[in-house]
Amino acid sequence: MPVNLPYALTAELTHRCPLSCPYCSNPLELQKRENELSTDQWLSVLEQADELGVAQVHFTGGEPLLRPDLERLVRRARELGLYVNLITSGVGLSDQRLRQLTEAGVDSIQLSVQAASSELADPIAGFPAHELKRQAARRIRDIGLPLHMNVVLHRANLHQLEDIIELCVSWGAERLELANAQYYGWALRNVQQLLPRREQLQEAEAAYARAQRRYGRQIELLWILPDYFEDFPKPCMGGWGQVSLTVAPDGRVLPCTAASEIRTLTFENVRERGLVWVWRDSPSFNAYRGSDWMPEPCRSCERRELDYGGCRCQAFLLTGDARATDPVCIRSPHRGIVSDRVGTMAGADTGLPDYSYRGR
Ligand code: SF4
Ligand code: FES
Repeated sequence: MPVNLPYALTAELTHRCPLSCPYCSNPLELQKRENELSTDQWLSVLEQADELGVAQVHFTGGEPLLRPDLERLVRRARELGLYVNLITSGVGLSDQRLRQLTEAGVDSIQLSVQAASSELADPIAGFPAHELKRQAARRIRDIGLPLHMNVVLHRANLHQLEDIIELCVSWGAERLELANAQYYGWALRNVQQLLPRREQLQEAEAAYARAQRRYGRQIELLWILPDYFEDFPKPCMGGWGQVSLTVAPDGRVLPCTAASEIRTLTFENVRERGLVWVWRDSPSFNAYRGSDWMPEPCRSCERRELDYGGCRCQAFLLTGDARATDPVCIRSPHRGIVSDRVGTMAGADTGLPDYSYRGR
């Protein structure tokens, strides 16, 4: 089949992070600093991404501000004509760092928040970050950059949804992603602590609709569906190897940030292979392109071009087979895994659960 050009590169500069959010999508096996790509290797990745046709790069982690070469990478990406987005916890975003990043040409910054106040946000993050985020938001607005924010929603903070939206409006956010937790990496380790009750979600969705009416165009609100509660899976990544690629801190090239957990595939490394070859020809990127790889029920399903059989990472993590129909799908023979999990949440309370925190 013809291979599309990728639109976006996610550059995971490091897995190191001052925070330890229990819903982190980083893999359980976090890469250590000594395994991270060097500055020159990242510069080469950016040049190869440009050659491949990539239009935007998301610098993320872990916490990308922990890399002292971030400004150099941002500058090179802009020289190449790429749109540069920085995804950060805001911890470490001093006036000086922000000035340097702005001079280097960063186009937008996405700042995460954990809850509506530090009393809940800091225990969720496992770090006193909330006040630092407030200061980071003010700096971003003062320097004239668009402020985009995101919050991961789960059992312990869904009841605050309206207050979280109000907080982000008061901090000057132009856009807020309300991202219901997705269960990969550390989030899957903490799934029993994070999964909400169905009624909680219904109340939050109503709060989201009220906020949309209240704020109108003042802030763009995006509701990312809680897929365990849906009947059909999300069209994950717009299809495997279709629109974007991720380079992990150690240089492995992945079709999505969670893919390193698929143990049945071998992922190429930019230390040994060019990005163009990996995108076009590598067995890992070609493994689930198109629909020939699909087993039943996806193979003969009328939705297969709409959702591509769902998420390969979720299929592997829940069934051990990355080719399987995503268990979120009501037509999947493994749907019971998801329904059972959702069912056990019926009587769960909303206090702060006992999380397994990732190491830093
Ligand atoms: Fe999508 Fe496969 Fe379910 Fe059909 S059977 S809706 S293609 S996941
Ligand atoms: Fe990897 Fe869905 S997160 S394919």
